[in-house]
Amino acid sequence: MSDTPDLIDDLRRRREEAKLGGGEARIAKQHKKGKLTARERLDILLDPGSFQELGTFVRHRRTDFGLENNRPYGDGVVTGWGTIDGRTVYVFSQDFTVFGGSLAEAHAKKIEQIMELALENGAPVIGLNDSGGARIQEGVDSLGGYADIFLLNTLASGVVPQISAILGPCAGGAVYSPAITDFVFMAQGTSYMFVTGPNVVKTVTNEEVTQEELGGAETHASKSGVAHRAFQNEAALLLGIRELLGYLPQNCEDPPPYFATDDPEDRADEALDTLVPENPNKPYDIHDVIKRVVDDSNFFEIHPDYAANLVVGFARIGGRSVGIVANQPAVLAGVLDIDASLKGARFVRFCDAFGIPLVVFEDVPGFLPGTDQEWRGIIKHGAKLLYAFCEATVPKITIITRKAYGGAYDVMNSKHIRGDLNLAWPTAEIAVMGPKGAVEIIYRKQIAEADDPAAAEARFTELYREKFANPYVAASRGFIDDVIEPRETRKTLIRALNMLRDKVDTNPRKKHGNIPL
Ligand code: HXC
Repeated sequence: MSDTPDLIDDLRRRREEAKLGGGEARIAKQHKKGKLTARERLDILLDPGSFQELGTFVRHRRTDFGLENNRPYGDGVVTGWGTIDGRTVYVFSQDFTVFGGSLAEAHAKKIEQIMELALENGAPVIGLNDSGGARIQEGVDSLGGYADIFLLNTLASGVVPQISAILGPCAGGAVYSPAITDFVFMAQGTSYMFVTGPNVVKTVTNEEVTQEELGGAETHASKSGVAHRAFQNEAALLLGIRELLGYLPQNCEDPPPYFATDDPEDRADEALDTLVPENPNKPYDIHDVIKRVVDDSNFFEIHPDYAANLVVGFARIGGRSVGIVANQPAVLAGVLDIDASLKGARFVRFCDAFGIPLVVFEDVPGFLPGTDQEWRGIIKHGAKLLYAFCEATVPKITIITRKAYGGAYDVMNSKHIRGDLNLAWPTAEIAVMGPKGAVEIIYRKQIAEADDPAAAEARFTELYREKFANPYVAASRGFIDDVIEPRETRKTLIRALNMLRDKVDTNPRKKHGNIPL
């Protein structure tokens, strides 16, 4: 006989029932697939003991299809708030063991509630998605529920960070809520996103494709760019969200968190002085530069497997978050193409929306030429990156490590588009194009008429190099604020970021701009 009052026993019993979701058998099935339950995921994501659930006893009110006899507590989603490293976050975690985590009226209302709380209180929203999509039995109420969430996702965009974990199927219109959020993380082997699954694809296009190929983690993290990261398993993904949040502010008005570091502010790194190869056509890995400059070599990369010719991600410099945007000479010589432009533009806009200073490492030979790129619209997509840098009002610093050629020079946060501090290493080359192309155009006639065309070409190339393959012409115009010794990069950046800490810049009053979509 228990010594707690009956009513409390009853409450506890109901709570235990709610915790079981769709029951032991379905939980076992979930585990067999290599998936955690909705609550197990929250245990990993949140600080221990911090979760406060809301709507535990919410149930649907349908009476069709025999649903009146199946009204599990929670309606297939666990919602509430908790903390990550002591900071509040709002969460929803879909429970696949209840109607396959499908979204319906009551389920949607629970998600809307925590999104509204997040907006009112200024804290991130994290959605753990594991759902068969719209609950078929609830028809248009399910569709309405999705649309209500899409609207809130859009209204919350740029106000609070929104992060989506895909931890199971995510099909149909259900993919559009994650797609509106700021970051989409997927788990290898257990998560899928597609507008229509393999069967519909087969019927409509006659293509044979597996779930994994069509919309698995690898596909979206490397081919489509829909996912920002693919993690080996669910636990790694959830810990990844915790790590990401350490770089982000709670909302668009708060500063990102400060993390004290033992990494000295004036740490000089001599290896940087020789990191850029003498031969301008030889690649090097821009990660080496980033890791040598930022605090404790910690770099949280976004989209590491997509458009690797541009590297973007979060780091701290002097304890404060920065968004790094860097051309990658080791992939396609660091050229800007459509995918890199889209990746960069979205990242720059995120950082600008949330007050995270931008640090750009530039080594770019230009935009990628060719019919494929032109016909797919490199002009409008490249313009997105340009637009994003132009409109950004956060502190913006550029370091040109080597090439800054052509339109890409302008685009990559040049002085002309409100770069606050534009620095160059002595290895910088700032010109309309590289020496070979330039000489072939402007000295074509002289080379053709020369007794020894090869020697003439070499002479003109040397001449061009002397004139343009350095940072000093740009520096003489004030387009480069200083030429620094590479080893001093960290120290200089910390000083600059301190100087820019209270920067205020605004754009003209408008309803909103019209970014070239
Ligand atoms: C109601 C659903 C459901 C759904 C799954 N279930 N999807 N119930 N509505 N949409 C239920 C199943 O009946 C089953 O219940 C349990 O969840 C687990 O499903 P299984 O099929 O046994 O699991 P599995 O084999 O892992 O397959 C998972 C699945 C498959 C791939 C998600 O269930 C599936 O294809 N479901 C339908 C997906 C779909 O077409 N959704 C609508 C998309 S359109 P029991 O009781 O047996 O455990 C859409 C529109 C959104 O979402 C529009 C927004 C604009």
